[in-house]
Amino acid sequence: VTVFVPRDAASLAVGADKVAAAIAREAEARKLDVTIVRNGSRGLLWLEVLVEVRTEHGRVAYGPVKASDVPSLFDAGFLTGGAHPLAHGLTREMPFLKNQTRLTFSRCGVTDPLSLADYRHYQGLKGLEKALGLAPADIVKQVTESGLRGRGGAGFPTGVKWKTVADASADQKYIVCNADEGDSGTFADRMIMEGDPFVLIEGMVIAGIAVGATRGYVYTRSEYPHAIATMRQAIELARQAGILGPSVLGSPYAFDMEVREGAGAYVCGEETSLLNSLEGKRGVVRAKPPLPALEGLFGKPTVVNNVMSLASIPVIMDRGASFYRDYGVGKSHGTIPIQIAGNVKHGGLYETAFGLTLGEIVNDIGGGTLSGRPVKAVQVGGPLGAYFPPSLFDTVFDYEAFAARGGLIGHAGIVVFDDTADMLKQARFAMEFCAVESCGKCTPCRIGSTRGVETVDRIARGIEPEKNKALLADLCNTMKFGSLCALGGFTPYPVMSAMTHFPEDFQPAPLVEAAE
Ligand code: NAI
Ligand code: SF4
Repeated sequence: VTVFVPRDAASLAVGADKVAAAIAREAEARKLDVTIVRNGSRGLLWLEVLVEVRTEHGRVAYGPVKASDVPSLFDAGFLTGGAHPLAHGLTREMPFLKNQTRLTFSRCGVTDPLSLADYRHYQGLKGLEKALGLAPADIVKQVTESGLRGRGGAGFPTGVKWKTVADASADQKYIVCNADEGDSGTFADRMIMEGDPFVLIEGMVIAGIAVGATRGYVYTRSEYPHAIATMRQAIELARQAGILGPSVLGSPYAFDMEVREGAGAYVCGEETSLLNSLEGKRGVVRAKPPLPALEGLFGKPTVVNNVMSLASIPVIMDRGASFYRDYGVGKSHGTIPIQIAGNVKHGGLYETAFGLTLGEIVNDIGGGTLSGRPVKAVQVGGPLGAYFPPSLFDTVFDYEAFAARGGLIGHAGIVVFDDTADMLKQARFAMEFCAVESCGKCTPCRIGSTRGVETVDRIARGIEPEKNKALLADLCNTMKFGSLCALGGFTPYPVMSAMTHFPEDFQPAPLVEAAE
């Protein structure tokens, strides 16, 4: 009997290794033949450790399993899908999974992340094989026609970026995968690197062939040790299998890649400071232009794409541009892996076509708050994203709809807050975060963020509140339009949305104290 116990960091954090050991011990004691596969996570994080058993009807899920539950699972006959208080029936029928459209995450949680046999069995390498039968320009064309937009947050058309690099002439070009994933409440990049690393490798190889790059780098954060280890092992396996190396799958194309660790600066997720960091320099933002597409790593034409963008390439090449393009709404094509976090009942990863409303995501999929109290605000798009009140829950999840309401999708992380949240404190946090993480290159961000903290503090203490609120709005305006990069430029989003949608939290001190 095959039993699946995830090896994803989210599962390890709640005892997956102990659960796996307990299952092995119990099986041995009962003289039962059990094979344990360490899969990635399915993304139902509130049910981790989610143990699955392969039965004749399909996989059956149990969770959240603790090591102490294991004897009772055996007593209940879980190896044949027996009933147990932790049983959820067939995994594929669980509503959270059944209603998803998993294109990028189709294998994540299903396979052993380091088994190339599993990868091939579940459609892996089909995209690369098709790409090898096309001219590089036609690969770029397909990516453009798919409508894929940069999933790191900015939503720039991936095909257009690739074409810029492909059209540039240089003796060396690079593919850089931005896996720094610094946004609060986001974990999609990590889940792919830990749960399906070959899909990222495949996407980067295709990108290399398309634009004429022979070297790739995955730049990720040191806080992701499991992702780093898994990616490195997967790269070595891909080399041994001839997917990476001087002749990709026997073709005339060469491509190889490696993983580089950052040192913990949020701003190194910004593409130009990431490139500086990769070159061994301080992680300071570079002015654009020149675009990295023309003068990127070591001054050479470079594709800088987020993990999600690159991991979406294989399915686009395999199933075709129009297959992918037909999902979504407006100018937001394909699927988006939404990461639901914060004070929410069903936190996890939910891949779906663009087009759900924010309310559907928070209430129907997320199940509302974990505390059971009313939702007060939802921050979408990381620490630089806007706070949305429930009155804006009809906002459709697509790039333009969020922008029209003064927000951004960003890397599609959603953090839920209940009615105990103090939005003035959240606004202060945004300014403080900016002050701590600022690279220092430009004045609005370096100085403005610290003045912002002071101004919020004066409002909190009831010192000339109306004058200071106007000053804060003015400062936000300066930061938004005067900053060199998104860190200083986007900090006004959380600050201004908090002040606009929750004015009651910005009342003078006596009221604030009374409320506390
Ligand atoms: P941007 O709009 O300046 O650029 C987007 C991308 O398009 C860049 O890679 C840029 O080089 C490229 N580009 C622009 N014009 C081009 C052209 N004509 N040809 C080829 N390439 C071109 O946005 P930026 O500053 O790179 O990113 C801001 C976004 O980052 C925000 O929307 C925010 O949501 C997101 N973000 C994501 C984080 C995460 O953890 N994933 C963390 C912080 C911010
Ligand atoms: Fe650096 Fe901030 Fe300016 Fe960005 S906005 S370049 S992080 S000082």
